[in-house]
Amino acid sequence: MNHALTQLQPYPFEKLRALLAGAQPPADKRPIALSIGEPKHKSPDFVARALADNLDQLAVYPTTLGIPALREAIAAWCERRFGVPGGWLDAARHVLPVNGTREALFAFTQAVVNRESKGLVVSPNPFYQIYEGAALLAGATPHYLPCLQEHGFNPDFDAVSDDVWQRCQILFLCSPGNPTGALIPLETLKKLIALADKFDFVIAADECYSELYFDEDNPPPGLLTACAELGRSDFARCVVFHSLSKRSNLPGLRSGFVAGDADILKSFLLYRTYHGCAMPVQTQLASVAAWNDEAHVRANRDLYREKFAAMLDILGPVLDVQRPDGGFYLWARTPGDDQNFTRELFAQQHVTVVPGSYLSREVAGENPGAGRVRLALVAPLAECVEAAERIRAYLQGQPA
Ligand SMILES: Cc1ncc(COP(=O)(O)O)c(C=O)c1O
Repeated sequence: MNHALTQLQPYPFEKLRALLAGAQPPADKRPIALSIGEPKHKSPDFVARALADNLDQLAVYPTTLGIPALREAIAAWCERRFGVPGGWLDAARHVLPVNGTREALFAFTQAVVNRESKGLVVSPNPFYQIYEGAALLAGATPHYLPCLQEHGFNPDFDAVSDDVWQRCQILFLCSPGNPTGALIPLETLKKLIALADKFDFVIAADECYSELYFDEDNPPPGLLTACAELGRSDFARCVVFHSLSKRSNLPGLRSGFVAGDADILKSFLLYRTYHGCAMPVQTQLASVAAWNDEAHVRANRDLYREKFAAMLDILGPVLDVQRPDGGFYLWARTPGDDQNFTRELFAQQHVTVVPGSYLSREVAGENPGAGRVRLALVAPLAECVEAAERIRAYLQGQPA
């Protein structure tokens, strides 16, 4: 067997199951899960119809590169959304469809890491666990940058040593972040691109929450915005990861894309051809419809906005919690230990959240997720409100 498999950590939900095993939540309270980050709003009907209308494509082997119509729709979306000048993103060379960002983040790491040089894969901490597992299975060493409140829940990139940048092969960014919801400012993205040039590493920007933001007039910038503003028309060393899962409430469609540096994508395409992860043509055609429409995405944001407002109204006075820059999580400070909070909340109120320490790694005795919990606002509004009321009741029942 591959020995690297033994280095993989149990997934946070496995730890959560173990933590809650044996607890006896009140039977008269229906369970409310704020734990899993699975979008629950309705998938758009027109996408479902596009999928159904193209089922004859089941008879066709899809290509790894995907159909031009999808790559063109994605390139056009990137131009509209991130201010990329027309003609910079050549749909034939700068865009690849992927079956959701999860598989893409994993596969990308396998394609990019040079095993010989014992390099680092640098990621935020807390982080989406795939970055770590992908690094370990690619033979690299994960290096974690704490995301603390005093730095706006982003890594303090200025504190990273030249030695770390020297050994860095991939820098993972997650903006807006899971679980913190923090957005990486445009100026920081530009500085990171300069560092990538200086130390020759690849920036892999996981932007799968980029469409869940609050101000309709100010969509948050991404790594492509930084490239556009820098005049970096070749997107050198920059690759972005996007998905329809959160944007369009289509987690089951398994559809996303990577875009950026054409040389890197050429090698990634080669890797993917062997890996065997072409997107079915009917999925591609349904994805074209989704990328071409923004009305459903605006409606989706409205629903999250409503839920954030309602939950923060209830929780704000009793819990240290702020509205994030984007995404659909609250990253709340717990009055004591996060595992204890999670277990007791479940046992007393039948509400499930994720301990922050399960989403982060301890480095030098510090776990930046400790003392926090992640609340996913995916359930319908009424259920989110009920969960917030139960959390408040739990907190008010606690000794001061
Ligand atoms: C930060 C982050 N990246 C990537 C993913 C993967 O999403 P998908 O594979 O559905 O695009 C998730 C899913 O929860 C996530 O939270």
